[in-house]
Amino acid sequence: MKKLLCIGGSKGIGLELIKNLSETHLITVASRTAPTFSHPNIQHLPYDVLQPNFEALQALGTIDKFVYLPGSINLKPLSMLKLEQFKEEMELNFFGLVATVKAILNQMSEQSSMVFFSTVAVQTGMPFHSSISAAKGAIEGFTRALAAELAPKVRVNAIAPSIVDTPLASRLLNNEKKVEMIADKHPLKRIGNADELASAVSFLLDEKNSWITGQILGVDGGKSSLSV
Ligand SMILES: NC(=O)c1ccc[n+]([C@@H]2O[C@H](COP(=O)([O-])OP(=O)(O)OC[C@H]3O[C@@H](n4cnc5c(N)ncnc54)[C@H](OP(=O)(O)O)[C@@H]3O)[C@@H](O)[C@H]2O)c1
Repeated sequence: MKKLLCIGGSKGIGLELIKNLSETHLITVASRTAPTFSHPNIQHLPYDVLQPNFEALQALGTIDKFVYLPGSINLKPLSMLKLEQFKEEMELNFFGLVATVKAILNQMSEQSSMVFFSTVAVQTGMPFHSSISAAKGAIEGFTRALAAELAPKVRVNAIAPSIVDTPLASRLLNNEKKVEMIADKHPLKRIGNADELASAVSFLLDEKNSWITGQILGVDGGKSSLSV
């Protein structure tokens, strides 16, 4: 069985991903809290990317598939954002990712695959998104550069979602009016769900799609590319 390391996976998109892949993969979920779903093929490693324990990741041995899920949504006008908040956003979204990838690089197997997370707000400018767009923009650049550097051994892709119904987005979706308003801004007239995003991750990780690398896949109800 292929070995999957998921940083995150206890909730949201990552939780749906491990549910979907648990029959066919040996999965390590590295996160602060344990997933609510259990399966003999899933082990939980208590882990905080802001206080990393690289030895614990290196003890996992060979890795065939890697997904990094930690992220934030911190929407404020620039005038209300402190420089410290930009740094915090970069730490969790970007530096946490870079440090993890550096730590496990030698463990990636031949024909392995990595998937990272960006946001629709990188390629489409949106008010109040400056700190998260900057951090995720760094991830998009990193994705392409790393894909070039690690080819042909490791494929590297990222997903850029619009808003998805997960614990991370719960404050933006905490009443029906907000959900309706946000859904209406998407050409497909609804918000995304975690399973749809997990499905996109599985697609990019799958060996059947092994001619795809260096891509940023928009999974966003049409928001990034359509005007209707
Ligand atoms: N949901 C959206 O609307 C949306 C939109 C655009 C982009 N995205 C991106 O999609 C990705 C997944 O989002 P999601 O909505 O599934 O988020 P989520 O519901 O908050 O889940 C995030 C996962 O990351 C883990 N995590 C967070 N901080 C961590 C830390 N310090 N150390 C280790 N693990 C940590 C969490 O586990 P623990 O809390 O147990 O540690 C959890 O399993 C994120 O990168 C996000 O920025 C989401």
